[in-house]
Amino acid sequence: MRWFPNVAVVAAVMSLMVSPASAADPVLLRGFEASTLHGAVRPVDDPGAPDGRAISLAGVATRRVALVTGSGLVVRLASSCVGAGLRVRLDGGPSLTFGAGSSAWHDVRLRLRITAGEHLIGMRSFPRLRGGCTRLRVERVDVATRGRGDPVLLGAAMRAQNLADDHLYAATFVANFDSLTPENELKMLFVEPQPGRYDFRAADALVSFARAHGKTVRGHTLVYGSQLPSWVTNPPVPWTRASLLAVMKDYIDTVMKHYGSQILTWDVVNEAFNDDGSFRDNVWYRVIGRDYVEQAFRFARAASPGAVLTYNDIAAETDDAKSRAILRMAADFRRRGVPLDAIGLQNHTNLFGFPRADILEATMSRYATLGLRVEITEMDVGAAGYSASPATGSQLQADAYRDAATACWDVAACGRLTTWGISDAVTWIGSAQAPLLFDSAYEPKPAFYAVRQALLDPR
Ligand code: G3I
Repeated sequence: MRWFPNVAVVAAVMSLMVSPASAADPVLLRGFEASTLHGAVRPVDDPGAPDGRAISLAGVATRRVALVTGSGLVVRLASSCVGAGLRVRLDGGPSLTFGAGSSAWHDVRLRLRITAGEHLIGMRSFPRLRGGCTRLRVERVDVATRGRGDPVLLGAAMRAQNLADDHLYAATFVANFDSLTPENELKMLFVEPQPGRYDFRAADALVSFARAHGKTVRGHTLVYGSQLPSWVTNPPVPWTRASLLAVMKDYIDTVMKHYGSQILTWDVVNEAFNDDGSFRDNVWYRVIGRDYVEQAFRFARAASPGAVLTYNDIAAETDDAKSRAILRMAADFRRRGVPLDAIGLQNHTNLFGFPRADILEATMSRYATLGLRVEITEMDVGAAGYSASPATGSQLQADAYRDAATACWDVAACGRLTTWGISDAVTWIGSAQAPLLFDSAYEPKPAFYAVRQALLDPR
């Protein structure tokens, strides 16, 4: 769909925008050819572009455009340069980063939090000119409603035991969350306590509860170095690479097939790296070697071809040795066709050093550039050691949650933020740390309102 030249057409589309029937997909409102951008723009003939013309962007380009509340931008671009991408900013604000990982023309959607009126769009290609391979081709920019096709889901980890015991625990989840992650019940220790004897009762209870209330489920976690049954960590006969790979394959196969389409996002491997970027020592690594991660992803794709396969890790939110090791692995997997679809950033954090939105956005964008989805998978914000006033502490905690939610909203590849529990009454780090969105009496905290505003009503 092209530029709408007259007001009547724009008004008609605007009215579609508020119609529930049409809100599932973004509605294009208007757009402009990239050649009308000002700045480091060179018009080029491009037989592959939809109308044969495009621009080559080698630096910064800008244009003013009228936007409506809730709209986003759709930029049609292409680049044959590996790692090239586009940074877009509105009114000089923080930039959103998108990879242009394909030489075919494709659309990238930018979710923006805007108010109606005229805004300045700025675009910059990256990386900076180097080796003649940084020119990005842009064909056009469309303004669209955000649509409901890609909301950010709010999830929570839950425990089967509390589900059975505590009415408020269940009711608070049902009223406020979209997605459920079993906190422990899908770990091998519980699912295959004896070789070949699978026990899905606790996990099934959580999955049935979620589905009965129309919620989605994240599977956590297929291959993990912790919470393993002793027959895996202390086998009567030492494992060989082949025998342990067979155990891993059988486990992934059995668990993913047990749930089939009931669980379509899985943490396939959890926490494979140390903080210094080396591999964590665990039985999988020791016996199989570093390719145990790759093998797990291959087994998972074969077991459930439609599932989103995630690598999930802790304390990998900032640009450090661990997150660089994960990024290297992800890039390598993408290059070699190892089936990795998404990265989970756990974001267990605290009042003293939580990652700010710009840091999270930068980390997420690096994965997005590789064509991966991202999620925040286990967020909590502990208060251990915090001695200033409780009001200041709870404000700081709200800031930490708001930053994470804002980052997830701003990076189009981020589709879900999960907190590692519901209320301070049930948390792995103890109620005294009050790390979650609801207090021990299941009352919403400032952090809850901060997340809700950032995710559900971002304007
Ligand atoms: O199963 C026993 C139960 O029989 C006993 O009655 C109960 C008494 O405390 O303990 C139960 O085991 C506990 C287990 O969770 C299941 O509830 C362990 O003591 C407890 O240490 C274990 O903690 C879990 C921890 O992983 C284990 O490493 C936490 O609940 C869980 O939140 C935590 O989750 C991990 C993620 O999977 C990965 N990322 C980090 C995150 C936090 O460590």
